[in-house]
Formats: sequence, C-alpha cells, structure tokens
Amino acid sequence: MDVNTLILGAGAAGMMCAAHAGPGTLLIDHAKAPGEKIRISGGGRCNFTNLHAGPDNFLSGNPHFCKSALKRYTQWDFIDLVARHGITWHEKTLGQLFCDGKSPQIIAMLRDELAAAGADLWLQTSVAGVSHDGDRFRIALDREGQRISVRARNLVLATGGKSIPAMGATGLAYDIARQFGHAITDTRPALVPLTFSDQRFAPLSGTSAPGRATCNGTAFDEAILFTHRGLSGPAILQISSYWHEGDEIILDLDPAGTLFDTLRDQRQREGRRNLTTELARHLPARLVDHLAPELGLTGNLADQSDARLSEITDTLRNWHLKPTGSEGYRTAEVTLGGVDTAGLSSKTMMSAHTPGLYIIGEAVDVTGWLGGYNFQWAWSSGWAAGQAI
Ligand code: FDA
Repeated sequence: MDVNTLILGAGAAGMMCAAHAGPGTLLIDHAKAPGEKIRISGGGRCNFTNLHAGPDNFLSGNPHFCKSALKRYTQWDFIDLVARHGITWHEKTLGQLFCDGKSPQIIAMLRDELAAAGADLWLQTSVAGVSHDGDRFRIALDREGQRISVRARNLVLATGGKSIPAMGATGLAYDIARQFGHAITDTRPALVPLTFSDQRFAPLSGTSAPGRATCNGTAFDEAILFTHRGLSGPAILQISSYWHEGDEIILDLDPAGTLFDTLRDQRQREGRRNLTTELARHLPARLVDHLAPELGLTGNLADQSDARLSEITDTLRNWHLKPTGSEGYRTAEVTLGGVDTAGLSSKTMMSAHTPGLYIIGEAVDVTGWLGGYNFQWAWSSGWAAGQAI
C-alpha cells in the first residue's frame, strides 16, 4: 500500500506529528495502546509541559538545536490545545503543569487530534525492515500475523529512547537512523536514581530532605530522597543527567545558608539542649542520627563553639559523594543522547542525508530536565516535522 507519511512510534512525538502531517498519514506502534509513557507519567497526571520551558532546560551536543522548534511550538500552544479539549490543569511547583484529572485525558486528546486530521493508527504492528528506492521508502510491517509492504514518501522515526524496556522501548530509531548514515551520540540513562555499591543509605530509606545537588558545575535545589540503593528525588534525578561514572556529586543540606546563624541563635536560647535534637529541627532526625558518628555530633548546643558550629554546617553544605552507578534504563525517565543533531534540520527535523526522513522526540540528542520539558520537546519537534511534511 502507498501512504504519504509513515510515522513509527505512537508516543508523544509521533501522535503530535500525525495530527499535523496532513492527509495520507499512517502511524504505527508495536504496543497495544498508544502513548504508554504519557499514561504513566507524572504519577498518572502527566506533567505535560513547563511554564518556563526554554532552550536552557535541555542538554544536547548542540544546545542551539532545540531553539527553533521550541520557539515555534511553545508551551503556550500546548496549553491552548489542552484548553480546547476541556482539560483543566494546575501548576504543581517550578512551572510544572499537571492535569487536574488523569493522564489518559492527554492521550485521548491526541487520538482525537490525529483522527480529526485523518491519520490512521495501527497498533501491535512491528517493523521488519526499511529501505529507500531513491524515490520512496519501503517499509515491511508485521501486523496480525501478516507481512504488509508500505511505500511512503516520508518516514518519521518517533520510537523514542531506550528507557524502560519493559514498556516496549527499543533502539529502533537509532538503528534506522544509522542505516541512513546518521551518527548516534553516546547514550546513557538520565533522570535516574544514583546508586552506591555499599548500600550505605539503606537505613535512611524513605527519608527526604530539601537540598541542593551539584555535579560538574550544575546545581539543582529540590528534594533529595535516600533510598535502599542510594539517592533519588527530584534534585538527584536532575543532577543524574550531568553525572558520569566516576564523578562526585556534592549535596548541600542547607542551600539557603542560614543554618549557622540559626544554630547560634538557638544556642543562646536553648544551649542546654542536645546538638542532635536541635539539628533535627532543621533536618530529618534519621539523617541527623546517620550523620552523627561521622560528624562527631555529641554534647549540648552550648558546648559548641562558633568554629565548631561553622565546621558542622560547612560539612552539611559540602557533602561529597561518589555514586558507583545508576539504576539504569530500567527506571530512567529518559535517554540522554541519541541521533546526532548535526545530521538534522533544526527547523523541520528532516535528515540532511535522506530527504523525506524525519527524526523527532526523545530519539534525537535533545534531553530535557525533569518537570515537563521532555514532553514539550516531543510536542515541539513532532509539530515541527508535521508542519514541514
Ligand atoms: P515515547 O517513548 O513516548 O514513544 C515511543 C513509542 O514508540 C512508544 O509508543 C513505543 O511503544 C514505540 N516503539 C518503540 N520501539 C518500537 C518498535 N521497535 N516498533 C514499533 N513501535 C516502537 N516527561 C515529561 O515531560 N513529563 C513527565 O511527567 C514525564 N514522566 C515520565 C515518567 C516515566 C516513568 C517515564 C519513563 C518518562 C517520563 N517522561 C516525562 C519522559 C517522557 O515520557 C518522554 O520523554 C516522552 O514520552 C518521549 O516521547 P517520544 O514520543 O519521543 O517517545
């Protein structure tokens, strides 16, 4: 059969693209349902964009690449779309927008949009091979036990990255991109918990504290969560994108820098109280107990000189840790790296090597921070390719 455009992958980017790619569009996915990551995202409420989304919130070999698409299809465009479909939302924190209802609302909206545009959606369909005859792409699809040969003027790779293979993530976009001469940058799991081989934080598992995580000159102020295997929570997931094996991270448990003055005040008023009890007014008690032997936290507050208080607070502000690894693609929210942007047009997402081949979404070497940025990239890049087609 002949189509104008075949889109591989009915995730966030693929559905958005299908809604804008015009007549003769076929969208396929090997899963039973489209947009599975949308469904589980944001704790079931889908953090679908961020009010502050802009190029600075993305990592890429070329930090300029994402600018054009993000500027032409913005968070406000997506917010308009959501509003047109009667989906209400709220800002949780730091500009992160979530559905008031459930994330399947976003999937239903995208399904409505692509159906209104006349695009067909085939689920449980896999790709057996792709070639190009100089004029059209020829794609062999397996659907319901049948081999179907499709000829397409345009082929869009929207099968995402490698994170969460249990949900059907594969490296298909990378394989096809490579086949057509595209380079793939180093890929690694990102927005992922960091681990320590000695399970040193196991006794603290479930404890959370506000803090700052820094790695390689980048810092995030958000919650830090101690887990059985290591560290998690938004500050750690964010910093994991900047961490490479062997790197140290620095935790600051007093990012406002007020603890020294506060403890001095407390010493005047409540000097007879235990140092650890007083510290536990500012940090989780379990964390204070955990740190007590290492920091020598003994005695009353009145026993601590200014120099000693300064030493304690400095240590809490500069906790150097060397994770041994991460939880990997099993739990990573995204894949860092992907199809090298050098081979793509930033305006249209089209391949510089093969006219008619487009690559969008997470498959591309553009990775957002935690907080709705990755979906915004999927919407913006999907829209940009759809417009160009
Ligand atoms: P996506 O992964 O959405 O879609 C790819 C599609 O291709 C899938 O439907 C898959 O089945 C299909 N596919 C893969 N291989 C195939 C093959 N070989 N043949 C056929 N089909 C194939 N982001 C955000 O901004 N806000 C959030 O709240 C969250 N929350 C979140 C939670 C969790 C648990 C995860 C894992 C991820 C998030 N994310 C997120 C990240 C976000 O989900 C992700 O960046 C986008 O879904 C990427 O969109 P794509 O369309 O590029 O890939």
